[in-house]
Amino acid sequence: MKNFLILSLAGFILWSCRGTSDLAYQVNSPDDQISITFMTIGGKAAYTVSYKGSTQIDTSYLGFEFKDQSSLTENLSIKNQSLKTVDETWEMVWGEQREVRNNYNELRLTLQENKAPNRTFDVVFKAYNDGIGFRYEFPEQAALSDEVVITEEMTQFNLTGDHKVWWIPGDWDIYEYLYTESKFSKINAYDQFIPGDHLGQVYLHSNSVNTPVTMKSDEGVYLSFHEADLTDYAGMTLKVDTSDLSMVSELVGNDAGIKVKTHAPFVTPWRTIQIADRAGNLLESNLIINLNDPNELGDIEWFQPMKYIGIWWDMHLNRRTWDYASGNHGATTAYTKELIDFAAENDMGGVLVEGWNTGWETWTDPNMRDTIFDFTTPYPDYDLEYLANYANSKGLEIIMHHETSGAVARYEERMNSAYQLMNKLGIHSVKTGYVGTIIPDGEYHHGQWMVNHYQNTLDKGAKYEVAINMHEPIKATGLRRTYPNAISREGARGQEYNAWAGDGASPPSHLPTIAFTRMLSGPFDYTPGIFNLSLKPYKDDHPIKSTLALQLGLYVNIYSPIQMAADLIDYYKENPAFQFILDVGVDWEQSKVLDGEPGEFLVTARQEKGTDDWFVGGLTDENARDYTLKLDFLEEGKTYTAKVYRDADDTHFLDNPTAIDIVEMEVTKGDEIPVNMKEAGGFAVSLIAK
Ligand code: NOJ
Ligand code: CA
Repeated sequence: MKNFLILSLAGFILWSCRGTSDLAYQVNSPDDQISITFMTIGGKAAYTVSYKGSTQIDTSYLGFEFKDQSSLTENLSIKNQSLKTVDETWEMVWGEQREVRNNYNELRLTLQENKAPNRTFDVVFKAYNDGIGFRYEFPEQAALSDEVVITEEMTQFNLTGDHKVWWIPGDWDIYEYLYTESKFSKINAYDQFIPGDHLGQVYLHSNSVNTPVTMKSDEGVYLSFHEADLTDYAGMTLKVDTSDLSMVSELVGNDAGIKVKTHAPFVTPWRTIQIADRAGNLLESNLIINLNDPNELGDIEWFQPMKYIGIWWDMHLNRRTWDYASGNHGATTAYTKELIDFAAENDMGGVLVEGWNTGWETWTDPNMRDTIFDFTTPYPDYDLEYLANYANSKGLEIIMHHETSGAVARYEERMNSAYQLMNKLGIHSVKTGYVGTIIPDGEYHHGQWMVNHYQNTLDKGAKYEVAINMHEPIKATGLRRTYPNAISREGARGQEYNAWAGDGASPPSHLPTIAFTRMLSGPFDYTPGIFNLSLKPYKDDHPIKSTLALQLGLYVNIYSPIQMAADLIDYYKENPAFQFILDVGVDWEQSKVLDGEPGEFLVTARQEKGTDDWFVGGLTDENARDYTLKLDFLEEGKTYTAKVYRDADDTHFLDNPTAIDIVEMEVTKGDEIPVNMKEAGGFAVSLIAK
């Protein structure tokens, strides 16, 4: 690089190099630790990223391919550039913390083809202290003003080492996999891909991974790749080149070969890389939500973060059924009433009722599933209106359930009446579900058509004051900032697999892995709190690989503004460990990841919003771990009553998972509490300010 022209401008370094008539520009994070360089090389657009002086993303090219148009990868020159600094603070309606600082330096570059049709677009980079985001913005222009079909986005991520990676296959339909930990060069998505599982709902296009995908370099730098503000666009998988140690975006398409149908003006989602040298910083990062637009719905006071119970685990244990014809129907008026009473006594906000509506007899029948559910007709033994009113009279709500069985076009037709009904009944949240391949045929769960459908549910929900918890969803990309009725979702292998997975209960490393991968995208409806961990007498040979203390800690470790107490209520009655579920917060003033390592362990502390109380959760993989909980985060001069729930000396996840040591003590800032997490164990602590 010759002829440097270095300009220093309010925290930016802007340099240009005129060696080959190409230009390069640089923008740094506010703390100067992360640096992004953008350049054109022989007419191709490229960028690099460094962290603390060492290159993390080496020269990586950018571009697009279109149907019936030449690709937009070459003959580009930089027409304009501008710089900007933003430092603002905004408030989350609900979340891991009340205040979020949004502080970045932005570099915007306008690129144009120097031959016809002279298409133009901006690349916008934002450098944060916790990572980077960049997106493409296409302004209005003749060549792209009619319908444009993007057949591929060509965003490269060229790595600088054979990192350790925690990954799942880039399945176009489902994220419910166990993660594999391997070197980047050993990623083989086809090995892990489960053809024909999930009622046929699987499609893998290449050796690719889904995001967030998290890596650790030999030098101890953590990188996590994802996207933010996925709106009217296809989800992005990352195609892996194991020999070149690089990845390139591979958008989810449909069987018609369309990835994104759009027209200018349009913007893409942000491509994001979280960067840290402490694993916990990945989880504390606000990069993804900061890259989304501000709240458009206001305070949505009709939704409050809550704990809930439900008629749900019954079915996963085969103790009761969703369908009515079996004669063993779960969603009866009497059973729901019993749960409402229990929820009211224990200050829970909701009761989820699955199997309340007609259609479940044939919900997985390929010939039937397109028509069966109308989302408004209850089974004859379920008095919907009475129960909704009864719940309201007790100060809580029924949580609605809409399983679409993948028949999404049909659901779209019926959504209006279904959401109107919820509004009329004072039901302010719904768990949606998309089991099975998508109807219309040829669309996939993570493609643009479905991205727009999931957005429709949020829009319809906003109109009728309904918050959405989607299962078999599109991954979260921080849209909860803009639409705070996007309360939670699945999008990972949740607790339900512990009841019936063909490959057995999830291994103990699963939770500390999803903590540093899936959880970086947003809230997870994992459904913690199983107390009967052997599952006997309902399942003979499917014990959950977890201790009771770990289950309690999940209320802090796995964030969601709705947290289920997922077990049958009989297991909670008169169990002293249930006290933690009663006490633990669901909405937070601040959160701190005290320690953790992907695939190994996690310790999180959170201060409840509106109180001075703190809660701590810990979990470990198959290795036992001694941990000293240092109460440095407490407020100086205050005394707290600490109640510690930890694995006992004789706790073992396989033959004695429910043994738990519960102790109470008075503590102040700086005190230490020793815990011994057993294999697949953990702990939970409530710290109630006096
Ligand atoms: C899959 C969901 O993840 C699960 O929670 C639900 O019970 C079933 N679908 C039925 O809708
Ligand atoms: Ca599921």
